[in-house]
Amino acid sequence: MPDLFSEFRIKSVTLRNRIAVSPMCQYSATDGMVNDWHLVHLGALARGGSGLIVAEATGVSPEGRITPGCTGLWNDAQAEGWRPIIRFIEEHGAVPGIQIAHAGRKGSAARPWEGDCHLAIDDSQAWQPVGPSPIAFGGILPRVPHEMTLQEIARVRADFVAAAQRARDVGFKWLTLHFAHGYLAQSFFSPLANQRTDDYGGSFENRARFILETLAAVREVWPDHLPLTARVGVLDYVEGEQPMEESIELIRRMKAAGLDFIDVSMGFNTPDVSRVPWGEHAFLAPIAQRIGREVGLPTATSWNINDPVKTDELIRTGQIDLAMIARALLSDPHWPYHAAQALGRELPQNVLPPPYAFWLKR
Ligand SMILES: Cc1cc2nc3c(=O)[nH]c(=O)nc-3n(C[C@H](O)[C@H](O)[C@H](O)COP(=O)(O)O)c2cc1C
Repeated sequence: MPDLFSEFRIKSVTLRNRIAVSPMCQYSATDGMVNDWHLVHLGALARGGSGLIVAEATGVSPEGRITPGCTGLWNDAQAEGWRPIIRFIEEHGAVPGIQIAHAGRKGSAARPWEGDCHLAIDDSQAWQPVGPSPIAFGGILPRVPHEMTLQEIARVRADFVAAAQRARDVGFKWLTLHFAHGYLAQSFFSPLANQRTDDYGGSFENRARFILETLAAVREVWPDHLPLTARVGVLDYVEGEQPMEESIELIRRMKAAGLDFIDVSMGFNTPDVSRVPWGEHAFLAPIAQRIGREVGLPTATSWNINDPVKTDELIRTGQIDLAMIARALLSDPHWPYHAAQALGRELPQNVLPPPYAFWLKR
C-alpha cells in the first residue's frame, strides 16, 4: 500500500507525494488578474513540498466569480498572468492545477473579511447573480438569482470550455471543475436550489444534465493525457438534499463522460451547516472511500485533514488516494516537512528545496 510520501501517478502526471493543496480563494485579484500575491502564496506552497497545487476557484466569466477579488480565466491576459506561477510551481517539483468555477447565486459577494455577504445592488462592483431557479440561497446571501435561460446555460458551458482551453494553453497539468459548495453547477444538481420544469430540472437525469454536459464539453478540449478532475458536493447534511445514491450515480456518469479523478466534498446549498460533523478528523473520508470503490475512480477529499499520522493512515488504508489540505497548509506551507518529522521518516526527496534542505536535513 502507498503511504503519504508515495508518488501518485495519473495519466501522464506524477505527483511527488499524496499531499495536495486544496483550492483556496485569495480574493486578491484585480479584474480577475493574478499578481505577486498569487505567485508568493502558491510559490510558498510549492516550495513547501506538496505534490499538487490546485489554484483557487477561478471564474469562467466575470459573473462566475464569487467576489470582485476572485481570479478569472475569461480572457487571454488573465491566462498569461498564470505563466510565471506555473513555472515556479513546476521548478519546485509540484504539479500546477487550477479549479474553474461559476459561482451562480452565491456570486456578487463581498470578500470574507469585508462581510462575506451579497454586495449591495447599487455597489459599482456588484452584478446580478444567476441560478437554475429564482430561489435565494438565504442568510447573508439573500439576492434572488436570475433564472437562467437555455441560451444562458449554453453560454456558461462555452465559458467553461474556453477557460479550460486557456488553462491548457498556459501549461496547467491538472484541471478541477468546481461542482461543489453550492455554486452554479452544484445548484443545478440540488433539489434545494433547482425547481426548473424543463430539461435541466426535476428528475435526476435533468438535474445532472448541466454537470454532465459541461464535463463532456470540457473533456473535448482538455488533453487526454492530462487528468480531468472535479470536486463534487455529495451531501449537505440537511433535509431535502438528494440521496447519496444519486450523488454516486452522478459520479458514475461523470466517469463515463471522461472524469479521471473525484474530489469528494459538501453541497453547501443552504446556510444550515449545523449538522456537519465539523470536529472530526477527515470526516468525509469514509464517504469518499465508498464512492471511490463503487465508481472505480481515484479519490480525494478534504475537511479537517491536518494530523500527519492520521493522514498517512488514510492513504495506507486505501481510504483516499490524495489528501486535499487547505487550512493546515495555509498556517504551515512546510506541513509536508513537518509531517515527515512527525512520522519519523527520513526526509523524502524534494520535500525541501536545496537551499533549505542543506540546513534542515540534519
Ligand atoms: C481561504 C479558503 C479558501 C477556499 N477557497 C476554495 C476554493 O476556491 N474552492 C474550493 O473548492 N474550496 C475552497 N475552500 C475549501 C477548501 O479547499 C477545503 O475544502 C476546506 O477548507 C476544508 O479543508 P481544510 O479542513 O484542510 O481547511 C477554501 C477554504 C479556505 C480556508
